[in-house]
Amino acid sequence: MRKKVTVIGAGNVGATAAMRVAEKGLADVVLVDVLEGVPAGKALDIAEAAPIEKHDCRIIGCTNQYADAKDSDVVIITAGIPRKPGMSRDDLLATNMGIMKTVVKEVAAVAPNAILIVVSNPLDAMCHVAFEASGFPKERVVGMAGVLDSARFRAFIAMEVNVSVENIHAFVLGGHGDTMVPISRYSTVAGIPVTELIAPDRLAAIEKRTREGGAEIVGLLKTGSAYYAPASGAVEMTEAILKDKKKILPCAAYLEGEYGINNLFVGVPVKLGDRGVEEIIEIKLDDKERKALQHSADTVKKLVEDMKRLSK
Ligand SMILES: NC(=O)c1ccc[n+]([C@@H]2O[C@H](COP(=O)([O-])OP(=O)(O)OC[C@H]3O[C@@H](n4cnc5c(N)ncnc54)[C@H](O)[C@@H]3O)[C@@H](O)[C@H]2O)c1
Repeated sequence: MRKKVTVIGAGNVGATAAMRVAEKGLADVVLVDVLEGVPAGKALDIAEAAPIEKHDCRIIGCTNQYADAKDSDVVIITAGIPRKPGMSRDDLLATNMGIMKTVVKEVAAVAPNAILIVVSNPLDAMCHVAFEASGFPKERVVGMAGVLDSARFRAFIAMEVNVSVENIHAFVLGGHGDTMVPISRYSTVAGIPVTELIAPDRLAAIEKRTREGGAEIVGLLKTGSAYYAPASGAVEMTEAILKDKKKILPCAAYLEGEYGINNLFVGVPVKLGDRGVEEIIEIKLDDKERKALQHSADTVKKLVEDMKRLSK
């Protein structure tokens, strides 16, 4: 049986993710959007590249037609509005909350066994909406942010030490916002701690650039936010799930006491396999890291409380 991935939102992140899923030969793809014609057009364009890219994945696009998403294995949700210069991710809350609720209810009705990968911002808060609106167990709702933030951290470390990106392992934990926590202590270049290779002031500058990585791109693009690397992040998670890789990746997961955090989606290392979030990995944090993670979780909690107020 072929696997099936539905991508909701055929915009920049969604269409790029759909293309990567197909071109990696991972699954048949259904691309859904509210826009008339756009998902069908982008899907046809990707399908027409298939003979050149050499894959046999079927890809279709549709407008608000959730029947096509029936029995999807993974659903990547990118529907919503992105940031414009001067906006924070949290400014998207009210609009994207409504969109998330609507699309997740539709998805849950036709693909009750799917694993949801949430991408829309503000990420951690949108995971809550997806969790509540779907009624899915916590293992099957997971947010993509840490993979992206860690990839940015890894890219900047590779640029600094001038080695292959493949040699770099790095973790960014916490919420997907200005309070995210790059964990340099657990970041390595071919197994060598970065703290031994990069001077503290340079490392602090790299951590800052990582935290501001999204805003840096929004500032350059001016009309939207990053999408190539975010799509790569969502597809790495999709691949880990579809191939049951048991891959450890930083993802937004629902915490119930892990890291001293309760009933919140926050970015932590998890093991991803075909059951979704199969394990939350608790790494030892020092006092400073733990406080930074707690502060990040507090900002997520505030957003969740804001959503409750907005829903009244
Ligand atoms: N988690 C992350 O790390 C990360 C990274 C980048 C972007 N994002 C977020 O992902 C989202 C998408 O970003 P983008 O750059 O692709 O934006 P985009 O504007 O290019 O695409 C969003 C698409 O969603 C569609 N849409 C809106 N309402 C919908 C609905 N009810 N049903 C189906 N589709 C609907 C729009 O028509 C549009 O095509 C934004 O919220 C952005 O902030 C998150």
